[in-house]
Amino acid sequence: MSENIYFYPLWTRIWHGFNAVFCLLLIFSGFSLQYSNPEFSFINFRLAVSMHNFSGIALTISYLLFFTGNIFTENGKYYRLKFKGLRMRLWKQLRYYAYGFFLNEKSPFPVSKTNKFNPLQQISYIVATYLALPLLFVTGWALMFPEFILKQFLGISGIFLTAQLHVVMAFLITLFLIIHLYVSTMGKSPLSNFKSIITGWQKVH
Ligand code: HEM
Repeated sequence: MSENIYFYPLWTRIWHGFNAVFCLLLIFSGFSLQYSNPEFSFINFRLAVSMHNFSGIALTISYLLFFTGNIFTENGKYYRLKFKGLRMRLWKQLRYYAYGFFLNEKSPFPVSKTNKFNPLQQISYIVATYLALPLLFVTGWALMFPEFILKQFLGISGIFLTAQLHVVMAFLITLFLIIHLYVSTMGKSPLSNFKSIITGWQKVH
């Protein structure tokens, strides 16, 4: 018999919505800034700068909601990684995504009240939200106020290093987003996970 579980509390859905919108705006404007030259830019240069700065500030504020929410509510427990048997669990989930899913096999880690994320989801969400996003916005803020960046680090320009780290993190988040969107279609039906992150409810067996 299937059961409806309230999986995504309102605050996580609000954070996620803002996060998705601002990440997309940052990716489009950042891409345009990276590849603009005096003759051509995808988005008007000044507009792209304002869009990028605004979205970066907004993303940082919405991140604080996620961070404090995960400290003070139950949701934080889903982000605590258990290392025991992790390699095997990751392998099982990877095999399922690459093979078992297409043979209609049962998911090795079916969604339940205690098991919100499968091991691959969990690890990718931890890397994206606790590593890549903070590094992305800290380096972004530093580039907005470059006077605070070290002039030189190990003989290399501090601004250059900060900009490189910023672009690598932006690339990682973009890659994460593409995989995240694809994997999110591998739920009970292609749209079921998208409905859940909007309504909060998830149907489980
Ligand atoms: C167009 C943009 C996006 C769409 C359509 C989308 C879609 C979804 C869906 C369907 C879920 C629920 C399924 C699941 O738990 O895996 C989800 C959850 C989640 N997404 Fe996204 N996502 C987007 C952008 C992002 C971005 C940019 C990030 C982070 C950088 C992100 C991080 C997360 C996290 C951490 C969760 C779990 C939230 C929780 O319950 O604690 N998403 N997303």
